[in-house]
Amino acid sequence: MFGVIAPRYDLLNHLLSLRRDVSWRRRLVAALSLAPEGMVLDLATGTGDVALAVRDRRVVGGDFCLDMLALSQGKARWSRRAAGWTAADALALPFADGSFAAVTIAFGVRNFADLAAGFREIRRVLAPSGVLAILELHRPRWRAVAAAIGLWNRLVVTPLGTLISPDGGAYAYLPASVDTFPDRVEMAGVLVGEGFSMLESNDLSGGIAALTVARRSEG
Ligand SMILES: C[S@@+](CC[C@H](N)C(=O)[O-])C[C@H]1O[C@@H](n2cnc3c(N)ncnc32)[C@H](O)[C@@H]1O
Repeated sequence: MFGVIAPRYDLLNHLLSLRRDVSWRRRLVAALSLAPEGMVLDLATGTGDVALAVRDRRVVGGDFCLDMLALSQGKARWSRRAAGWTAADALALPFADGSFAAVTIAFGVRNFADLAAGFREIRRVLAPSGVLAILELHRPRWRAVAAAIGLWNRLVVTPLGTLISPDGGAYAYLPASVDTFPDRVEMAGVLVGEGFSMLESNDLSGGIAALTVARRSEG
């Protein structure tokens, strides 16, 4: 699915979020100030927007979709930014224990086949006191916002996604996957269960999205 939507992914992202995605990603990258010095892994990097926004640190973008990685490499060349890119499945990462000071993930964890296993694997590749920063869409907890988003999804996201993307089904999957994904409080519970301590869990844009930041806890 991700390979098919890759060519139109950026356009639809900006269009369907009314460019909110840009400022949300900025907040995610700013959370790196909470991490110790060292290398960053941007997991589920997609077309690389988060990895390419990281400054003053070495960064690797990892994704299991090679078509997405090809686009991120092209963007890096075009913008003359240095980043490493690698094929990587979040559930079986090709990195040694403790390799990274921080892991960032934007709009990725919702797609993990096993959320807890993904967090466990991320914890493994984080150095002691390493930080995991997650940007994700969640079910809004305020009823009025949830109703507005339901309408937006029905009237705009699914029809426009079907029109513009080569895989229209993906844009029906998007709202459905948000509906069944844990809200940010439930997700924090999974993180704590997998050996993280919470640093931040904040709604963005009325709870359409959230920024979650957690530290690898020891013991
Ligand atoms: C919605 S895109 C997000 C891309 C990018 N992070 C962004 O900010 O737009 C989700 C990405 O997660 C990747 N992905 C989903 N599950 C994955 C997994 N288990 N391991 C690695 N990448 C995964 C997909 O291939 C896709 O590129």
